[in-house]
Amino acid sequence: MDYKNILKLVSENIYSGMFIVDKNGIVQFYNQSANDLAGLNVENAIGKHMLEIFPKLTEETSTIMRALSTGESLKNYAQNYYNYKGKLVSILSTTLPFYENGEIAGAIEIFSDVDQYKNINQNKHNKKLDSNFLEVANYTVDDIIGSSKCIKDIKAKILKIANSKSPVLVYGDTGTGKELIVQSIHNASYRREKPFIAQNCAAIPATLLESILFGTTLGSFTGAKDSKGLIEAADGGTLFLDEINSMDIMLQAKLLRVLQDGQIRRIGESKTRNVDVRIITALNQDPYKAIKDGKIRSDLFYRLNVINFYILPLKDRREDLRELSRYFLDEFNRELNKNITGFSDEVIDFFYKYDWPGNVRELRHSIEHAVNITEKNLITKSDLPKYVGVNSFGERQNLDNKSENETDHLTPKTIEEPLTIIMDRFEKKIISDALMQNDYNISKTSRRLEIPRQTLYYKMDKLGIKVDKKLD
Ligand SMILES: Nc1ncnc2c1ncn2[C@@H]1O[C@H](COP(=O)(O)OP(=O)(O)OP(=O)(O)O)[C@@H](O)[C@H]1O
Ligand SMILES: [Mg+2]
Repeated sequence: MDYKNILKLVSENIYSGMFIVDKNGIVQFYNQSANDLAGLNVENAIGKHMLEIFPKLTEETSTIMRALSTGESLKNYAQNYYNYKGKLVSILSTTLPFYENGEIAGAIEIFSDVDQYKNINQNKHNKKLDSNFLEVANYTVDDIIGSSKCIKDIKAKILKIANSKSPVLVYGDTGTGKELIVQSIHNASYRREKPFIAQNCAAIPATLLESILFGTTLGSFTGAKDSKGLIEAADGGTLFLDEINSMDIMLQAKLLRVLQDGQIRRIGESKTRNVDVRIITALNQDPYKAIKDGKIRSDLFYRLNVINFYILPLKDRREDLRELSRYFLDEFNRELNKNITGFSDEVIDFFYKYDWPGNVRELRHSIEHAVNITEKNLITKSDLPKYVGVNSFGERQNLDNKSENETDHLTPKTIEEPLTIIMDRFEKKIISDALMQNDYNISKTSRRLEIPRQTLYYKMDKLGIKVDKKLD
């Protein structure tokens, strides 16, 4: 079989760039994608030395040259660089030396553009270069609605601990208001004029997250860029790491070091830099279970958990329902220029019975939906979105036949499946409905669900949701 032809066929049809060099670093093969991604400024790179093609690199900074001299593979290595057109490119590269008769014979480097992941931290301010990740914390304690003991305690605690530098860990189910609490802490503190930076740790490759957090100095291509990581960018302010339980365990060890020493080191740099950052983390899983499952290092957890907040699910603080519903009704009346006066008894009754798996976010969206579509001045059952009322079994909770079902929610059901399966089914339903309601437009749907686009893609993939058209 002629492997050269197969290599050519593969390399011409993938979006990843590919370089193959001999043991001296002389290019033997490269593909069009390599040319496009690396922005080669030469007619033909074959027969040329890597350092001739990338004059800004050295034996040390070029990943290929390093692989040749050390014989080690560099897998999923994240790098930023400016290509010859001046465009900032982020790539993930894997460099593998290969051997013949026990000696290094050359190396292959495969790399792909990972700019898509950059959108994981989607917000309106991330367009500006070099302040890529600046966010604004909009919420304050006054935006936290509710007078249950849980909420009252949380608000009092926020004000009490705001000015301390101790790490904070916020734990609560999805949609319970974790982001609200985190932003309120920042805004109640002396750090309020300084950056508030949020990064979601889920669905992002570990090496890329590492370079995003710690910053980089080296690159294997033209004009390797020194770039600040988020930890440095948050200097003087607050860094919010969401879904910390999704962070790679090795990276957690590095984060622990930052917390202990107050210093960071950019990737590829030997010097350390002092940083003054308050770190707030959130997770939507029981922390002790996360430790038990190996999702969080216990040493990191105890360091992060100096101050903690736990928000009850909405169904366990139903006292807040009335106030929250009124608040959201007012909000959407204002926004949609309507004058709806309230909710029918049937709706209120349902609100009190329903489990609210999506918590406050689900309540808010239900009310937004109802205010949008109602033609009356009172919200009634038929105005609620159709996914509300789908109970954990994937069936619609029956709101009619009230007499028959009145105590239904109180009767324990035989649960025959693990919670994760039930939750996945529920999540799948919500995402599918949201996609449908937003014309299968990914950007719109992710905004609607208030999750980053990348997370939406990830969840669709995980839950096996296929759409014919993924419009953007
Ligand atoms: N107590 C509250 N008062 C007013 N609004 C709230 C409250 N709790 C949550 N919300 C609203 O519900 C929505 C979800 O809240 P938030 O994003 O803070 O949840 P979260 O816990 O971070 O969710 P996730 O785990 O999915 O990230 C937001 O629109 C937020 O404004
Ligand atoms: Mg959140």
